[in-house]
Amino acid sequence: MTIQWFPGHMAKAKREVTEKLKLIDIVFELVDARIPISSRNPLIDEIVANKPRIMLLNKADMADPDVTKQWIDFFAAQQIEALPIDSQSGTGVKQIVAVAKERLRPKFEKMMAKGIKRPRAMRALIVGIPNVGKSTLINRLAGKHIAKTGDTPGVTKAQQWIKVGKELELLDTPGILWPKFEDEEVGLKLATTGAIKDTILNLQDVAVYALRFLAIYYPDRLKERYVLSHIPEDIVQLFDEIGKKRGCLAAGGVVDYDKVAELVLRDIRTEKLGRLSFDRP
Ligand code: G4P
Repeated sequence: MTIQWFPGHMAKAKREVTEKLKLIDIVFELVDARIPISSRNPLIDEIVANKPRIMLLNKADMADPDVTKQWIDFFAAQQIEALPIDSQSGTGVKQIVAVAKERLRPKFEKMMAKGIKRPRAMRALIVGIPNVGKSTLINRLAGKHIAKTGDTPGVTKAQQWIKVGKELELLDTPGILWPKFEDEEVGLKLATTGAIKDTILNLQDVAVYALRFLAIYYPDRLKERYVLSHIPEDIVQLFDEIGKKRGCLAAGGVVDYDKVAELVLRDIRTEKLGRLSFDRP
């Protein structure tokens, strides 16, 4: 779904998340492990404020594992606990409850010290920008399929709690926040990973960005995938070589740059170039 984030929309989204925060003990901030900064909401610290928070690096199955490790250390240095997860297969998801429990231990111990014998379940909210995998994670934690509400702030329905074992309750609708899209590079990274629709940015611009990035950080994979003896400095030449090798041709045998752009982005998103990370600590 293409979302138009007008200032009014953003204010409303923020208000809705702020309302939900009143109901919960802990926030699960979902980001894309391939772009953990670019897929973050720019106001997240302000919005979440003092609520305990765990960062979940989702789609870790698609991210470069070495870079993911670096990100975990990077966030740890900022006192942010980050967990790599794959909501689609469930890898790492079980750990979320254990980590949340540890985080909330002081709060629940205080409740018990006040005489509450059986502490209630921890209550959590998942927040994140569209397409990071919020619904997938909710369904994974719920162990069943919960209908997805539109990615539009303001779509209201009765709030429900989903039980995740005995110790956790999750709000069934996530908090939807907007990315930092006024930053051009962030937009290009969101488009490269498929987080935003291909109609929003020019496909060739996105592919130029992606190919330049690959040439710097993953040159061997680029060479291997497109059978290149070397990577031409000139981006048009690189498009030409890939186009010729892959038969992305228009009438008259000239290289069709749109086709090359589509092919490269499809290859990236379907892991034909392996696990890639586009944000670097
Ligand atoms: P949202 O609620 O935050 O908007 O995101 P949603 O769960 O709809 O997930 C967006 C896309 O990301 C979905 O793919 C989903 O399958 C995929 N996804 C979510 N978590 C993971 C993960 O940990 N690893 C991988 N590899 N993919 C993940 P889609 O192509 O839009 O739909 P479909 O393939 O599920 O049909």
